[in-house]
Amino acid sequence: MVAFADTLISWYEDHKRDLPWRGEPDPYKIWVSEIILQQTRVQQGWDYYLRFIDNFPDVKALAEADEDRVLKVWQGLGYYSRARNMHAAAREIMEKHDGHFPNEYDKILSLKGIGNYTAAAISSIAFGLPYPAVDGNVIRIVSRIFGICDDVTQPVVVKKITAICETEIDSKRPGVFNQAAMDFGAIQCVPRNPNCDECPFQSSCYAYNNHLVDILPVKKKKAESKHRYFHYTVYLSDNQTIIEKRTGSDIWRNMYQFPLTEADSEEYADKPLFSIREVLSHQIIHAAFYVKNVKKLPKLSQNQLVIPFDDMEKYPMPKIMTEFLKYLA
Ligand code: ADE
Repeated sequence: MVAFADTLISWYEDHKRDLPWRGEPDPYKIWVSEIILQQTRVQQGWDYYLRFIDNFPDVKALAEADEDRVLKVWQGLGYYSRARNMHAAAREIMEKHDGHFPNEYDKILSLKGIGNYTAAAISSIAFGLPYPAVDGNVIRIVSRIFGICDDVTQPVVVKKITAICETEIDSKRPGVFNQAAMDFGAIQCVPRNPNCDECPFQSSCYAYNNHLVDILPVKKKKAESKHRYFHYTVYLSDNQTIIEKRTGSDIWRNMYQFPLTEADSEEYADKPLFSIREVLSHQIIHAAFYVKNVKKLPKLSQNQLVIPFDDMEKYPMPKIMTEFLKYLA
């Protein structure tokens, strides 16, 4: 029987995607691409990757940048803790590793924002270390081909899948193996209607042979999202406005917004000029914007500042804010 890795890599050689970070030897750039791809599709991540590298070409440039600027470049990608963590990790690499990206799995794993998956991806792609990068794609293809029928939201099941990958990985080219698995999951063995007719694993795939392709991987439903209602007051006085910096441990930390009142419902004193919904991983934000023309701006609360309205776009903002500004324009 042909080894799993050989079949996978031979499929990859014919089908691999041409991506801006493919063949990239610089661990810093591989890191950036992997962090972007943690929660962003390749399609959307592509331009952000180029822009990020353009703005911060190496660890030093990222470490020396202001957090506001890093968040600004990240704006629109979501999951902003990724950007904050990278920024912190870049500073850590400057201090602890003399500016050189660490070349051992455990040291990579200890950096802020890097979990098992990303540490394995960087270790294998940048340094040729034999660690399987197990993400949603890999969980799907392994559960189908090898017939793992347990609930993959359970950590023990992911451990079992990781163990299979550790056995199957091509230790001479682990980076190629991992990227082949990622592309195979993204292009061929996709969640819905995978291309089983032209699949090199067809004859050996457990799911295909047992009519379980639509069933595997088994995922227990996650808890329902929480709804939150954000009411923003847009003060205007002589083209000046008030914004505030979000602090604390809530979403969008250190990003800017108009003064916010969070309420239990969509109901509010006024009719909004604009409203928008954003679906996040665990919550759904219902945002409404109320414009108030005033002679004098109200007294500032903590974390608030007065800025010319036209300066708004200099500040890192969540997407609902930029959508509102787009609407105004
Ligand atoms: N998803 C996460 N990392 C990836 C990579 N290096 N190539 C393709 N898809 C990915």
